[in-house]
Amino acid sequence: MSAPKKLYIKTYGCQMNVYDSERMAEAMGGQGYVETKSPDDADMILLNTCHIREKAAEKVYSELGRFKGLKADKPDLKIGVAGCVAQAEGEEIMRRQPLVDLVVGPQSYHRLPEMEQKTRQGEKALDTDFPEEDKFETLKQRPRASRGPTAFLTVQEGCDKFCAFCVVPYTRGAEVSRPADRILTEARDLVERGVREITLLGQNVNAYHGAGPNGDMTLAQLIWQLDKIDGLERIRFTTSHPNDMQDDLIEAHGTCAKLMPYLHLPVQAGSDKILKRMNRSHTAESYIRLIERIRAARPDLLLSGDFIVGFPEETEEDFQATLDLIEEVKYGTAYSFKYSTRPGTPAAERAQVDPAEADDRLQRLQALLTRQQREIQDSMVGREVGVLFEKPGRQDGQMVGKSDYLHAVHVRGEGIQVGDLKRVRIVSSGANSLAGELLD
Ligand code: 5AD
Ligand code: SF4
Repeated sequence: MSAPKKLYIKTYGCQMNVYDSERMAEAMGGQGYVETKSPDDADMILLNTCHIREKAAEKVYSELGRFKGLKADKPDLKIGVAGCVAQAEGEEIMRRQPLVDLVVGPQSYHRLPEMEQKTRQGEKALDTDFPEEDKFETLKQRPRASRGPTAFLTVQEGCDKFCAFCVVPYTRGAEVSRPADRILTEARDLVERGVREITLLGQNVNAYHGAGPNGDMTLAQLIWQLDKIDGLERIRFTTSHPNDMQDDLIEAHGTCAKLMPYLHLPVQAGSDKILKRMNRSHTAESYIRLIERIRAARPDLLLSGDFIVGFPEETEEDFQATLDLIEEVKYGTAYSFKYSTRPGTPAAERAQVDPAEADDRLQRLQALLTRQQREIQDSMVGREVGVLFEKPGRQDGQMVGKSDYLHAVHVRGEGIQVGDLKRVRIVSSGANSLAGELLD
């Protein structure tokens, strides 16, 4: 038997890409590929890319440039670009970087095996269609590989919101939800393979409206179905839009024990003028009221958010409104970005904020978010939390897992296994993680 070919996948950007990379690796497994952690011994290199900000897209080209030497040493090496840069730039990638053999968009990667064959015949392969057939169905025949205790599961893709800064509606297309029975089958399969925590993914996951036995289901209804799966202990979902936070989902945060007390709910900005120009269709006030309702259902909820500074026409006063909103809401984690012009989006045409000013605002915003994050992390000391253990720690006899609130927790304890879910008392708060001791 010939030695397996090696596939090196590098993933950029969001968690949906992490899920897609896993599925691509599984699809290529059927072609005799095994994954390698190093590009140096790979027979195929795939970059699963992100187009959300300019820097993310540029990184892909500089990374590709670095493979020149490898390809010169090993002419059989195939290099592919997948994900949103592939979707957005298509053939342009091959023009700009001729060493690329294959370009595949996020909706057509189930065709990767045929495409790889084509490249083996010395041809270039490009597919950025939004095909009729469902990639998940095509991939279904291939069981998910055995794995650790946590997994992502894509339930919804695409976005119809058209925020004025964002490329997602163009690269990932219109909102589509997967039927509930297929999600439940995939979830059961994951649990059989040792998964105890599933994070449901979608660009607008709380807009989920997949077909169920009695018509379309909401995300909350899907979560309640998942709740019935024995062996599945934790459910999370990301990422959500404030306008799709329906009553039954808010209620589930208070009543579904498997649904973790963590919510990523981006607001982007705190000024109503900017929110309007961003086409967000909510105000700062309506967002704050919404958070109050969610916290009434689940008082200990840890909130996470996304923020953009330096959006076109943002004044210092508008920026202050973002800081005020953060002070009021309080975030346990947050992702903040300087506005990045994306060609083809409405905001790209507008008057841009001075880059130095935007840098300064980003620094001030991050200082505030870091302080809040720190305070919330420190406030965990003395609390009892559930921890799902994922891997051994750096020190002897130590294991690391994630708390219900998604904080990394280090615990010393004989006999803790990967996949154990245990009660832990938090004893101290370090730079980026907590330390705890076992309660049971
Ligand atoms: N510039 C900066 N940040 C952006 N995001 C999306 N598009 C842009 C852009 N053009 C951020 C938003 C979104 C997150 C995934 O990325 O905050 O919620
Ligand atoms: Fe982009 Fe807005 Fe859709 Fe999120 S809701 S993916 S930011 S357009």
